[in-house]
Amino acid sequence: MTQTFTVSNRVDDRGNIARIRLTPEDGSGLPLPTAGAHLDIYLPEVDLWRQYSLCSDPAETAFYEIGVLKDPNSRGGSEAMHRLATPGARFKIEGPRNHFPLDETADHSVLIGGGIGVTPMIAMAARLHALGKAFTLHYCTRSAEVTAFTDTLCAAPFAERVVYHFDDQDADQKLDLERDLPPAADGTHLYVCGPQGFMDWVISTAEAAGHQPQNVHREYFSADVELSGDSFDVECAQSGVTVTVGADETIAKALAKEGVMIEVKCEEGVCGTCMTDVLSGEIEHRDQFLTDEEREDGDVIMACCSRGKGKLVLDI
Ligand code: FES
Repeated sequence: MTQTFTVSNRVDDRGNIARIRLTPEDGSGLPLPTAGAHLDIYLPEVDLWRQYSLCSDPAETAFYEIGVLKDPNSRGGSEAMHRLATPGARFKIEGPRNHFPLDETADHSVLIGGGIGVTPMIAMAARLHALGKAFTLHYCTRSAEVTAFTDTLCAAPFAERVVYHFDDQDADQKLDLERDLPPAADGTHLYVCGPQGFMDWVISTAEAAGHQPQNVHREYFSADVELSGDSFDVECAQSGVTVTVGADETIAKALAKEGVMIEVKCEEGVCGTCMTDVLSGEIEHRDQFLTDEEREDGDVIMACCSRGKGKLVLDI
């Protein structure tokens, strides 16, 4: 369901991060999110839907808070958000939705946020604290001078569980996965969010150290995704439409030309909006959304970026 929200407060924090509070325009109550949830926010100026993790306490009933990094390398979403999100501005919003849920049964959770990737971790830390669970939040940034959210984190009742790591400090201060990751165990869960290279490093190191993939939870904000490849055919079982997806096309775009619409938002395989059921065919997964298990099952595809070999039959 799409709802209109108003910017009720904005703080320009360090590191080019705007902290934006949103309240429903009609004064209705907030659907309470679960820790790790995000909002889908529509930016009309650039005609993009963008996903922003909630950093507010999931128990907060008056507002949602997000953090937005102004990233000159983005496709324009974050710059538009910085320009448009002034107090009183209105946005079409869907959600909250959660593709990065917390396992609240874990004995021990380790939250690892790189830069703006700390946002879902702040909500998770609040929730774990409320549950009385054991956890540590590792917050990694380039330097103290660009580290946002420190006022919130220093005042939080879980402040002593936050460990800061700055790239410009000596080696002892930096994140050292050999030292900072706990030993692998069934009840130990890791959560990582941040730049793609940072995440890949944490995930591969954790898995090499014996952490089971299902205990290493991840959320990509964006991804460098290669969209092109050999052409292939897509048959839509329900509508009877068959198209050839060209070398530089995506499934969603090729089908849209024939009037078969698949909803897309991020268009880079991270948000899950375009997930489509597959009845048969070989999938070349290019997304960062599906788990290894889901890829092996082979019965869904992200139509904004993933491809097929030969012919795919979709259940649409
Ligand atoms: S539109 Fe976001 S994963 Fe495809």
